[in-house]
Amino acid sequence: MIEWMKMIKRMVSAWRLRASQKRDAMEAFRYDRAQFLANAGALHLDRKAAACAEIVMGYHVLEKGLTMPHRRLGFGKGTVAHLVNLVTSFEKRFGLDDFQVVHAIGVLRAYRELHREWPEPFPRLDAFLAAHPEVLASVQPHVTRAGFFAAKDSPFPQFAASRHVVRHFAGSVPKDVIARAVELAMTAPSACNRQPARVHVIDDPGLRDRLFALQGGTRGFGQDADKVLVVTADFSSVRWAWERHDCYVNGGIFVMNLCYALHWHGVAHCILHWSVAPAADRAAHELLDIPANEAIVQLLACGQAPEEFDVAASPRRSSAEIITWHGGGR
Ligand SMILES: Cc1cc2nc3c(=O)[nH]c(=O)nc-3n(C[C@H](O)[C@H](O)[C@H](O)COP(=O)(O)O)c2cc1C
Repeated sequence: MIEWMKMIKRMVSAWRLRASQKRDAMEAFRYDRAQFLANAGALHLDRKAAACAEIVMGYHVLEKGLTMPHRRLGFGKGTVAHLVNLVTSFEKRFGLDDFQVVHAIGVLRAYRELHREWPEPFPRLDAFLAAHPEVLASVQPHVTRAGFFAAKDSPFPQFAASRHVVRHFAGSVPKDVIARAVELAMTAPSACNRQPARVHVIDDPGLRDRLFALQGGTRGFGQDADKVLVVTADFSSVRWAWERHDCYVNGGIFVMNLCYALHWHGVAHCILHWSVAPAADRAAHELLDIPANEAIVQLLACGQAPEEFDVAASPRRSSAEIITWHGGGR
């Protein structure tokens, strides 16, 4: 009888827990949905910050194209036309006071200079650039492998400034180097030290290509990657609905540390988003046999860097632009 009562009590408390988790999850996801619909840039392109983000995405595509290993002239003509429209419209509405927008013009000029000998005309781009003679062509750094990794043992400011994603790969990275980089990356902090990050190393060209086909952000360089690190985070470490983003927060912190660790070990790598539709996420879990309780956070394409390569400039905002001081301390 006592055993029966204990069992019923346990069932009731499990049911209560599930019901309260369900309620909280509904509240949390409703909140996320409202935040997304009210603020996501793509839904509010009339706002200055959203219009600027759209421009950055456009120039980033061209900047990547300018530095690609298998670059074919004439690439990105649609993006050029779209970017000219976006910058023109931005300038009309807000002026040119944002350095990212000015940088977009510099990237367009670099694109045009690269296509100096191109047989087809670019009348709209030429007219646009003629109207902005003060903006010079942006420069995408050309580096040697030795120079790129030279700050390995420098103080942190120089080391951090020397890290960039690399989209040029020319050889394989030994497994033990990856293992040591992962070990170094494990110095990353995590909430309550729960350490949810996991790393799946894809060392098979067939799996790599099928994974990249689901991801969609590696055109022109993915086929050269030696290995792909799939960083996941274990959902089992999440305790309640208010922690719903924790896999991605902890996983993201781990990824950044892994980038520094790979850079320190001289491994060229490119971070790759995992912003995919649920069907692609499910397909990747199945393809790579990743347990359902692991959320895919990000991919890292890795390889040996070639002797020389180009890096996308990707300039940063000033810190004054992103800091808001609250309170009146010194
Ligand atoms: C979350 C995230 C997702 C990214 N996804 C891609 C991607 O799919 N393809 C790509 O070529 N680069 C991708 N990148 C690389 C960024 O374009 C790059 O980090 C950014 O332009 C800054 O350049 P840097 O890392 O060289 O400083 C991604 C970076 C981050 C942080």
